[in-house]
Amino acid sequence: MLMKKFFKFKNFKYFFLVFISACIENAPLDSLSPEGPYARSIDELFWLTFWIAVIIFVLVQGVLLISVFIFREKPNKPEPKQIHGNTKLEIIWTVIPVLILAFIAVPTVRTIFDLAREPEDALKIEVIGHQWWFEYKYPDYGITTANVLVIPSDTPIRLEMWSNDVLHNYWVPKLNGKRYLVPGQKTYLNLQADNPDEFWAQCGEYCGLSHSKMRGRVISLSESDFDSWIKIQQQNAIKLEDGSLAAEGQTVYLNAGCTQCHVINGVWDTQGDRIAPNLTHFATRTVFAGASLENNEENLTNWLANPAKIKPGTFMPNLELTEAEINALIAYLGTLK
Ligand code: CUA
Repeated sequence: MLMKKFFKFKNFKYFFLVFISACIENAPLDSLSPEGPYARSIDELFWLTFWIAVIIFVLVQGVLLISVFIFREKPNKPEPKQIHGNTKLEIIWTVIPVLILAFIAVPTVRTIFDLAREPEDALKIEVIGHQWWFEYKYPDYGITTANVLVIPSDTPIRLEMWSNDVLHNYWVPKLNGKRYLVPGQKTYLNLQADNPDEFWAQCGEYCGLSHSKMRGRVISLSESDFDSWIKIQQQNAIKLEDGSLAAEGQTVYLNAGCTQCHVINGVWDTQGDRIAPNLTHFATRTVFAGASLENNEENLTNWLANPAKIKPGTFMPNLELTEAEINALIAYLGTLK
């Protein structure tokens, strides 16, 4: 009865939706279109295992169907001899799966060790998980940024990761598998992108109310573009004293409470107890609010007016800013290049 209901025609549209969702092109979190060597080695392992499983499926189902057909009930045929248990057969169908698993284990274990090994001459970047955004530090260059991880393309990257609060999980599907960010413990993940491109990241572990909005972007740049990015990021912000709208925004930043959590190097350098994204080069980032919003005026207006409406549970308070203050702040954020 239930089955009958379930297979009603109108339900098939849901099956169809699930089916066509697999056909989306350029899906940014597609783990089956690797764009770097680490993701590719996982992809190769996946397809090897997949095709072995397909062959086994076809063989087993084929033998099953053939048996059903050959030994089906026919008129005037006596009931076949009923048996129970066959030691020889049982040994065979135990040993064969063991051999298959042993065969798959060889490339699996090799890939696991290859992925864990620290690559030579890798660029080290620290990834720190916060509810609900990723912070990035480049110890070799003295840079702190958020939400957007910028890397040189065709270069191995060694991420050293931990969490500031609860368990998070760093996942850039096109560049590697997932890895936990654990409070009080370091974990490591390698990334490498073949070409200059943009990739999406997503927190892969439920970490509270706005887990789904804990996203990220990885931007890989050519070597020269990466070098100029580094040079820009190493500069401090300039203190505005020209009476412009942006300078008014700087006053709002300094007086409204933003400095309790947000640092702007050269303007306010003291990190408060609660860490929020470093805003020194905010305007160079394409996204904000855990990479859940594009960096544009409309989104910034909505965000500054009521952050929790966009990211439920966010630690960024509603500062009850006036429209004029919000406009001034947005003008100021636009100067942080
Ligand atoms: Cu962090 Cu989910």
